[in-house]
Amino acid sequence: MDIKVIAGDITRIETGAVIVNYFEGMERLDGDIAAVDKALAGAISQLISQGEIKGKLNEVTIVHSLGRLPPARVVVAGLGKQHELSQDRVRGVVAETCRFLRQKGVASIATVAQGAGVAGITPELAAQAVTEGALLGIYSFRRHITKEAEYGEINQLAIVIADEANLSSLVAGYRKGRILAEAANLARDMANEPANCMTPTHMAEMAAKLAETCGLELNVLEPEQMREQGMGALLGVAQGSRQPPKFITLRYKGTDSTGIDVALVGKGVTFDSGGISIKPSEGMGEMKGDMAGGAAVMAAISAIAQLKPRLNVMAIIPATENLLGENALKPGDILTALDGKTIEIISTDAEGRLILADALAYAKKLGARFMIDVATLTGACRVALGDICSGAFSNNQELVDKVIAAGAEAGELIWQMPMYDRYKEQNKSEVADIKNTGGKYGGAITAAQFLAEFVGDTPWVHLDIAGTSLSEKEQNYLVKGATGVPVRTLINLVLSFAR
Ligand code: BES
Ligand code: MN
Ligand code: ZN
Repeated sequence: MDIKVIAGDITRIETGAVIVNYFEGMERLDGDIAAVDKALAGAISQLISQGEIKGKLNEVTIVHSLGRLPPARVVVAGLGKQHELSQDRVRGVVAETCRFLRQKGVASIATVAQGAGVAGITPELAAQAVTEGALLGIYSFRRHITKEAEYGEINQLAIVIADEANLSSLVAGYRKGRILAEAANLARDMANEPANCMTPTHMAEMAAKLAETCGLELNVLEPEQMREQGMGALLGVAQGSRQPPKFITLRYKGTDSTGIDVALVGKGVTFDSGGISIKPSEGMGEMKGDMAGGAAVMAAISAIAQLKPRLNVMAIIPATENLLGENALKPGDILTALDGKTIEIISTDAEGRLILADALAYAKKLGARFMIDVATLTGACRVALGDICSGAFSNNQELVDKVIAAGAEAGELIWQMPMYDRYKEQNKSEVADIKNTGGKYGGAITAAQFLAEFVGDTPWVHLDIAGTSLSEKEQNYLVKGATGVPVRTLINLVLSFAR
């Protein structure tokens, strides 16, 4: 979609549809909606007085202009109560409106900087929200569908501002919104891809492409090198599959120092069958998305490379399948991780924490100052928080507060879970240093406590996205399938570090 920001009169734009806003309980019309209403000879105010337009959040009303305006349609999009407005509500309204117009066959749209000047939303933040809402909302994954879609695509969006003085801040907001939304859509594409296409090898190829287009430094360890490094946990998971595992790193250098400020570690299980501890067949196909964490950190670092903050970031993605076969890992086996710790395997389905153990130990060995890992790690987290919030687990309150704030800015909700030492008890093994499952209860927390063992004192946050990585339905700016969570959070976080 081609998006541009222009200064001009919204009633004179040549386009397929123009979107203006109405707030619930608004006494009289002013600004853009008043200008459009006037051009329509009071059609909007009439619908309001008749009670057809109420301004409820996500309410969409279409008014045909019948030649009174250049565009054939005017859409009045409800923004809800003025004092409740947020950037995230703007994203949602724009997404819903764009999908509505796409279904009507509209190919080009003009709108205002929705929400600007209300509830602390600056023109810049409004332009960013409109851009993100449009790009995220009309996302679709049709790569494997050969028949034509029922509707065409919206290929043009103009964000129109009356006052030329605000143009540069609108452009800045639009640019940032575009980078964030495209990164989230990239992560969605990767996670939506079936496992026969998105193999560890393909993930490494995607990383190579990103390295080239965004100027990142790429390194991919092959099984031979993993063995040299001592990545016994990752190799243990990978040994049941014919697909070779890949240990992928992408490095962004924003300063002259050689150190790593932030390590972003993402679980890259391209298919999780459960291994010998096999999963029930119902819904197993969902496990093609078990690399959503890895996709998120790859997409985030590619956006970071475009935004160029002054700090150094490394994305680390241990990528493998978790399958079963004659060579597969077995319950009872004992593996040795990169840092020398031994792990008793209770369930081969608790594979995410195994590959992350090596990846976190690797980041620690490189001396990363902060570590964030992202993983579709536990069904328990999904049970606890549903698909609304990702779970955050941390050894450092200041860092987790920053992550939660970065999430709020993105509209990606995060809830902090407890990390009391007493949960560690459940991970104790009688035959190794630690075991890979902590029993039936508190499963999201015992998984996080397992990871904590490989992090040491480095400030670290673990984000469990098992519940939030997929959306079951179209809602606001999410569509059915991969959500791209928490790509925009990670980008915001790194930008906040650089500030
Ligand atoms: N990838 C799964 C977790 C998951 C479940 C993600 C549902 C998304 C939706 C993970 O590898 C897993 O299988 N976890 C087990 C851990 C258990 C064996 C301790 C689980 O949650 O059942
Ligand atoms: Mn599993
Ligand atoms: Zn898994």
